[in-house]
Amino acid sequence: MSERHAPIVKSQPVRTLHWPDEQATQRWAGALAAHLTEWPGGRDACIELRGDLGAGKTTFVRHLLRACGVRGRIKSPTYAVVEPHQGELDGQPWPIWHFDFYRFSDPREWEDAGFRDIFAGPGLKLMEWPDKVAGQLPPPDWVIAIEAEDESSRRVRVLAGTERGSAWLESAHQALWLEGPHAL
Ligand SMILES: Nc1ncnc2c1ncn2[C@@H]1O[C@H](COP(=O)(O)OP(=O)(O)OP(=O)(O)O)[C@@H](O)[C@H]1O
Ligand SMILES: [Mg+2]
Repeated sequence: MSERHAPIVKSQPVRTLHWPDEQATQRWAGALAAHLTEWPGGRDACIELRGDLGAGKTTFVRHLLRACGVRGRIKSPTYAVVEPHQGELDGQPWPIWHFDFYRFSDPREWEDAGFRDIFAGPGLKLMEWPDKVAGQLPPPDWVIAIEAEDESSRRVRVLAGTERGSAWLESAHQALWLEGPHAL
């Protein structure tokens, strides 16, 4: 009698979004910030931002940082590779790390700069240009891939890369995916 096997290739969970303008991007960033504080492990999420130059990765991150309670001027990490921020969660500081690996060239810098410790520690990690350090990053909980359709409109795919990331995709409140002007 032949046994029945589970499929070898697990389908990768993915959600699609449409941000017609930057306000929609901001709204979705706000909704995501609220969910990250609720999902198990969400406050320590590791999220890669992918997309061409000017797609809107930094813009999205800045809206997300604000929504996570980061105050004051938000510096971009382009030259420093990483910019640490302090959000606020239940009245407590919430460490948030914004990486931009676009100019990252020396793999030894990974160890020297202490990135391994950051990724092993608590806090939200957001990474632009993760492909520049392929093989060194831990698997991201989510990949958010942003594609410009025109000046203001963006098509977005959210893919899960970990078990908990898949759980967040599936457990996400409807409002994050289906309702409102940001949904498809
Ligand atoms: N719906 C939108 N979402 C995000 N950004 C938008 C949107 N509409 C217009 N923009 C504009 O697009 C530009 C995106 O630039 P941004 O620096 O965020 O891109 P990036 O993906 O980080 O590029 P780089 O790869 O150079 O870091 C900004 O000027 C932003 O105001
Ligand atoms: Mg950027």
